[in-house]
Amino acid sequence: MALLEVSGLRAGYAEVDILHGVQLAVEQGEIVCVVGPNGAGKSTLMKAVFGLVPVREGRIVFQGEDITGLGPAQIVRRGMCYVPQNNNVFPSLTVEENLEMGAFIRQGDFRQKMEEMFELFPVLKERRRQKAGTMSGGQQQMVAMARALMLDPKLLLLDEPTAGLSPKFAELVLEKVVEINQRGVSVLMIEQNARAGLAISHRGYVLTMGRNRLDDTGQNLLANEEVGRLFLGG
Ligand SMILES: Nc1ncnc2c1ncn2[C@@H]1O[C@H](COP(=O)(O)OP(=O)(O)OP(=O)(O)O)[C@@H](O)[C@H]1O
Ligand SMILES: [Mg+2]
Repeated sequence: MALLEVSGLRAGYAEVDILHGVQLAVEQGEIVCVVGPNGAGKSTLMKAVFGLVPVREGRIVFQGEDITGLGPAQIVRRGMCYVPQNNNVFPSLTVEENLEMGAFIRQGDFRQKMEEMFELFPVLKERRRQKAGTMSGGQQQMVAMARALMLDPKLLLLDEPTAGLSPKFAELVLEKVVEINQRGVSVLMIEQNARAGLAISHRGYVLTMGRNRLDDTGQNLLANEEVGRLFLGG
């Protein structure tokens, strides 16, 4: 059984459908990357999975349970966390306070989990009393990921975690994604840097104009001529 199974997903805004029957699955333990041109509907797909955009048709099944129509608060409690592309930290709160906010629905003590996050992201430990809004883009992305991980999700959704980062920070963030995955968290990620995203992913989906175009292993997509032409500059 897949951890996440999306089938026949139709969703959009106002009178317009953006997604026209999209299918996608994440197996337990996988990193899955969604790539596609601007406006293809990648973020809409992720928001629909997380209950932020209403599903008009189709089904979303998570850990065997139909979660179609549930809201984000209910979905979080089932073990899925979402890191949006923008505005994903509380800028006026410190790193430590951001992580506490992440843990707000956690039962009992969260200190141990916070220590784990400081071990995963040592820079956040050094800067735990710094206001998140004063940190670099790459560091803020780590705060956002750590905050999501405070809830011990089974599945982490990341919308363009490297957008706007310098190549060095982008590489570091993707290394962290791999490390998070190795600690047992499955990941569904959107990545505008298709080459780097697919390189760390078990499987990938190419989305164009709200429809599935291709899906395959990350390695096969990297070697695919059409993908190369569309996204990899060659
Ligand atoms: N809140 C909204 N209201 C109306 N239309 C929207 C809204 N958000 C997105 N859209 C439209 O839906 C389409 C798909 O947008 P979406 O953000 O899902 O694409 P994307 O693949 O994530 O693109 P990008 O690579 O630029 O992030 C676009 O035409 C966009 O203008
Ligand atoms: Mg997007």
